Amino acid sequence: MKIDILTLFPGMFEGFLNESIIKRAIESNKVNINLINFREFSHLNNGQVDDTPYGGGSGMVLRIEPLVEAIESVKTDASRVILLTPQGKTFNEAKAKELSSSKHLILVCGHYEGFDERIYNFIDEEISIGDYVLTGGEIPAMAITDAITRLLPGVIKEESHANDSFSNNLLDYPTYTKPRDFRGLKVPDVLLSGDHEKIRQYRLEEAKKNTLKKREDLLK
Ligand code: ADE
Repeated sequence: MKIDILTLFPGMFEGFLNESIIKRAIESNKVNINLINFREFSHLNNGQVDDTPYGGGSGMVLRIEPLVEAIESVKTDASRVILLTPQGKTFNEAKAKELSSSKHLILVCGHYEGFDERIYNFIDEEISIGDYVLTGGEIPAMAITDAITRLLPGVIKEESHANDSFSNNLLDYPTYTKPRDFRGLKVPDVLLSGDHEKIRQYRLEEAKKNTLKKREDLLK
């Protein structure tokens, strides 16, 4: 899969792309992630990409030409163009799964200011990562790229995400490691029993209990 991220702040992605699972996924060619600074597509000689809103009002608006030309510089018939805004549909694990089967994603990040409304003629969908406003689309682009990349074949062990929270509308079951007894807090006996069927049933029950307690809405 290829992911092109259009941003005015490529430096924000440095740590994200150069650590841990994402770094390994890139190095082993499971995913190809490119950063495109759409300032390079500015038509103005000082690299300006925003302007004052028609009709007046406070704040600046991202101009359409640099954004559309940056999109068109990488877009093919297989591309899905996603605009990151708080007005989009809320991202979730089902959406991550759906997007993980795409060949090419183009993630468009704004910063501080709004997009010129005509951008909607050049994108396929709009995604939000939650009902709060961030200073830009960079953190949402990282969140979405991370959630998708970990689902790509060979990035993490298949069984690691088969039981993930949300994978079957349930939260994850509780897990424990050594020591068996920490200040009187003991690991449940069933997990030490060696009876795999019993453990499977216990975990399913605990996942249901956990979901009912913390996220009843997922069971509806
Ligand atoms: N840009 C600013 N806030 C955002 C959010 N919550 N989701 C996606 N993009 C955003």
